[in-house]
Amino acid sequence: MQLHLSFLKSELDKRQQQQALRKLQDNSEMIDFSSNDYLGMAHSIQLKELIHKNSIYINKNGATGSRLLSGNYKATEDLEIFIADYHHSEKALLYNSGYDANVGLFSSILKRGDYVLYDEFIHASVRDGIRLGFANAFSFKHNDLNDLERLLNNSAGKIYVAVEAVYSMDGDMAPLKKISQLCEKHNAALIVDEAHSAGIYGNAGEGLCNQLNIQDKIFARLVTYGKAFGVHGAAIIGSSVLCDFLINFSRSFIYTTALPPHAVLAIQSAYTIMQQEHEQLVENLFNNIELFKKSAAALKLPLGHDFDTAIQTVILPGNENVKKAATKLQEHNFDVRPILSPTVPQGKERLRIILHSYNTTVDIEKLVTFLHSNT
Ligand SMILES: Cc1ncc(COP(=O)(O)O)c(C=O)c1O
Repeated sequence: MQLHLSFLKSELDKRQQQQALRKLQDNSEMIDFSSNDYLGMAHSIQLKELIHKNSIYINKNGATGSRLLSGNYKATEDLEIFIADYHHSEKALLYNSGYDANVGLFSSILKRGDYVLYDEFIHASVRDGIRLGFANAFSFKHNDLNDLERLLNNSAGKIYVAVEAVYSMDGDMAPLKKISQLCEKHNAALIVDEAHSAGIYGNAGEGLCNQLNIQDKIFARLVTYGKAFGVHGAAIIGSSVLCDFLINFSRSFIYTTALPPHAVLAIQSAYTIMQQEHEQLVENLFNNIELFKKSAAALKLPLGHDFDTAIQTVILPGNENVKKAATKLQEHNFDVRPILSPTVPQGKERLRIILHSYNTTVDIEKLVTFLHSNT
């Protein structure tokens, strides 16, 4: 066993030398510029009370099995019908997490001889799913339609294209309408990860595909509940055929205990609150995004993009630089996280600043001033 542990230790030492060692930390008492709780749903009293009120109707503490065995319930199926309707789709299928959903989707649909073309900045869960599939896989340059078309021209048979609506590490948006037109032209199936856009865009948080009214052109969408919805879990949204296929072939759906009834109730309740509060919460969020961007521009901070998204970045090349800046921010009670290489390309290391509906004007202005004098 010594041999095995020494290997692990040497890998950790390498990470340390690259200034890229990851450690768990609890920053929950700090001013939140880091969590994915974009709309404050994770700490919403209304949501908490609704879940609490309805939890008396739950008569099991756990799902007791996978969906195909003892873990399927009417409440789960009702929720899936509700989700499909909410996002204007034929069907929805719940997964235990967005990670599971992407791995289960890509690994099951990608067959030998297929092509999957994915944005170079696509989330790790999509990459892992692709790795477990058997398709020819190629990445195209981030948000680059010409590069995507070049790859589409070189592909044949069943072609899939995978993008995020809002990119998790960069915070910019995919040119979804144009990508969907390209996919249509080349008869490619488009898959959109809406982890960072669901709950925010659309009339009631349906997501960016709905806002752009291209939902019918999308082969599959991923919605996650651990971010703007403030709870946990995920759903793949698409056709009945797709969902039936996943029930039969998607291993991360089949071989795992289903979401517990509490989680199902939490997702259903999060939708209820989302419907009631979406307009106000999103207005607050976009006001804060605008304030951050204006203040940062006035002080000439090197922002990574110009999109109106909750994920903003300040580029500070070098792992050591960006780690130092984040430590200083945290010492002053700002929860801001550094994004290091290899998570992002070398030279593109950054501070990732997440804006929320509940950040205060004073805190945002203080943060920008602090960034200006300390980066
Ligand atoms: C783009 C993207 N897709 C999928 C996931 C996975 O979702 P979950 O956290 O529900 O596993 C994440 C989460 O970090 C993400 O950022």
